[in-house]
Amino acid sequence: MESADSSADSSADSSVGTPKDAGRLQDGFGRRHHSLRISVTDRCNIRCFYCMPADQVTFLPKADILSFEEIHRVVSVLATAGIRRLRLTGGEPLVRHDLAGLIQMLSGIDGIEDIALTTNGMLLGPQAVALRTAGLQRVNISLDTLREATFQRISRRPGLDRVIAGIEAAQAAGFDEVRLNALAIRGLVDDEAEGLVRFASQRGLVMRFIEFMPLDSDRNWDAGDVLCGDQLLERLERHFGPATPLPRPDPAQPARDYRFAGGQRVGLIRPVTAPFCGACDRLRLTAEGALRNCLFSQQEWSLRDLLRSSASDAEILQTAQACVAAKQAGHLINRPEFEQPTRAMYQIGG
Ligand code: 5AD
Ligand code: SF4
Repeated sequence: MESADSSADSSADSSVGTPKDAGRLQDGFGRRHHSLRISVTDRCNIRCFYCMPADQVTFLPKADILSFEEIHRVVSVLATAGIRRLRLTGGEPLVRHDLAGLIQMLSGIDGIEDIALTTNGMLLGPQAVALRTAGLQRVNISLDTLREATFQRISRRPGLDRVIAGIEAAQAAGFDEVRLNALAIRGLVDDEAEGLVRFASQRGLVMRFIEFMPLDSDRNWDAGDVLCGDQLLERLERHFGPATPLPRPDPAQPARDYRFAGGQRVGLIRPVTAPFCGACDRLRLTAEGALRNCLFSQQEWSLRDLLRSSASDAEILQTAQACVAAKQAGHLINRPEFEQPTRAMYQIGG
């Protein structure tokens, strides 16, 4: 496992020492936090087996979920401490009513430079233009397969055609970046990989593969199910020829990007076989307002009670700093003492 090292600080910004930087979010390993992933709901319109249970899902009561105003306040406070990039996630973020309205509110916050969305794409078609107009800059769309039967095996619902329509609508809406994400699961993606890369490349998109992580609600994850990034790359090289690694402009970016001789671009995210914790700059806010310093952390810091009391911005920031200060060097997926968090992916936000 990679440990947090001094290179983590290479994302240090020029605002060091300014009043804006006074309460910056720096952990015990020198990592400064610039990104916040915001889960806007734990609900989803499909049921991917690597994330959710098939049925009998207990969702959060509406009253427990942060309002747009509460999310806006959290972001406003954290932006004063160096948070600049936001990613909206779920569950499926587009099932939340008027997500474009939230994006518009967030895009007006001083210091916020980038707003991105991770979606399963099914509801994107009708919403893409409104999201873009509201200020959304980048979109990641999940696409694990190009076969409807496999889509239904994965997500336990029909709808691949709606995902494809969502991808097309996102491209037409003119986002700065549209990326496609597939889970790298052995026996699932292996024989789809070339087709997915070709699909993405024909549309001028980057296809990214993410190693399956132990965050499934069913707790069926097994190390043997992970289609390792290196093996996937070898497989793709047999098909497309040698891949050239591309420079990584942002060290906190989890993906390593490659280009094949034919121009196809692929990103590999290897949280299991090559953890990138050392350069992590991310915090996560769950739908009910708990701040987490890691996908795999066993602890969280509730901001909701503070937001719903008369707590000051300074108290909210102090809680966020406590969360950052407690961040571990990295996750322990590959260690015997690893314990899967009680929350599954849809309850944290991908
Ligand atoms: N491991 C890795 N990635 C996951 N996602 C959902 N569950 C897992 C998991 N167990 C990804 C989805 C989507 C994002 C929300 O998180 O593929 O891209
Ligand atoms: Fe829904 Fe995303 Fe989880 Fe699939 S991975 S069930 S689309 S939240």
